[in-house]
Amino acid sequence: MRRATITGWGKYTPPAVLSNADLETVIDTSDEWITSRSGIKERRISHVGTADMAAAAGREAVAAAGLAPEDIDLVVVATCTPERAVPSVASFVQKKMGLVNAGSFDLNAACSGFVYGLAVTSGMLAAGTAHRVLLIGAERLSAHLDLEDRSTAVLFGDGAGAVVLEATEGRDGVLAVNTHADGTLTEILAITGTGTERVFDPAATEAILMEGREVFRHAVTRMAEAAIEAVTAAGMELEDVDLLITHQANIRIIDATARRLELAPEQVYANIASYGNTSAASIPIALAEALQQGVIDPGDLVVFAAFGGGLTWGAAAVRWGERVTPVRFADHEIPGTDATALELLEARVKTGPR
Ligand code: ACO
Repeated sequence: MRRATITGWGKYTPPAVLSNADLETVIDTSDEWITSRSGIKERRISHVGTADMAAAAGREAVAAAGLAPEDIDLVVVATCTPERAVPSVASFVQKKMGLVNAGSFDLNAACSGFVYGLAVTSGMLAAGTAHRVLLIGAERLSAHLDLEDRSTAVLFGDGAGAVVLEATEGRDGVLAVNTHADGTLTEILAITGTGTERVFDPAATEAILMEGREVFRHAVTRMAEAAIEAVTAAGMELEDVDLLITHQANIRIIDATARRLELAPEQVYANIASYGNTSAASIPIALAEALQQGVIDPGDLVVFAAFGGGLTWGAAAVRWGERVTPVRFADHEIPGTDATALELLEARVKTGPR
């Protein structure tokens, strides 16, 4: 049976680190509150745009797969923080990376974007309508952070992660993937005032709206359900799962989901302490880091589970292939910045409402 398998992976995490101590200097908050409620210690603030971050992660993934840019026939960027409505971030990435043979489009399922992207692209690979796909999750949520709102400003960060998917007839690959949504819950998690509503509704100001406790409750239930659905559809049992990588939104959500699935701590990969919530980028960043740290072995059953605005959620069961190390490393690096994360964030805030 023809299906999609992951042959390359990469990430870009901006160099400017914003610690909880930094936030204490501009927001009425504390390291103790942020750490105990969310597990976050620091996050990254980008000095470059979403497409630059996406291309940096994409270059790593294509090199890791041992491919050249012209081998890629489709690039998809999961994002809810594009530079523009048109063209897509994926089109900018196509240009920046020289993916001359690739079609390009963006996909917005908020923080579930990477799992949704896996569903779409693995379906295309199985159907034979794509052969070598670059799937990227890239977000610059710092663009929407409001330092006046301490309940959300401490949670989010910037970054990008990417995978290359290729068709295989082997035992490895995306065994099962599901996508779900409940549109009656649109208002419990939203970024308002960023689309056309801003033009037609004067009350639609830019803001991150979040009913934290409601989101928390749904996240735990839905991610666990979706993970069980994916494992079952793959013909496996939960005890076959080697590693769970969930969307990184809150360590308590990750731990509660793992408990529901009866997984031991060593079966769960979490890096929220270092990056905060990077939305659609969080799973591919965590995947690239897990591989870098040797956490994934050939043949492992890896489960991805995500939830996000919409409300959307979904999960994928993936049998890892033989290779757990990159074929090559990318030779292109984004120039760094001398600005501190706080300077980057404050410079943006001073520009005022758009
Ligand atoms: N520092 C200090 N105190 C704070 C802060 C802060 N940064 N933020 C809120 N508080 C206060 C509140 O004002 C409240 O005070 P009060 O009791 O005097 O009114 C108190 O802390 C408790 O607030 P809660 O909201 O009840 O705290 P909770 O334990 O629920 O944790 C949190 C909040 C971390 C947001 C949690 O609910 C959560 O993680 N929810 C899920 C969020 C999530 O996953 N979001 C994903 C978004 S992804 C996307 O799609 C963009």
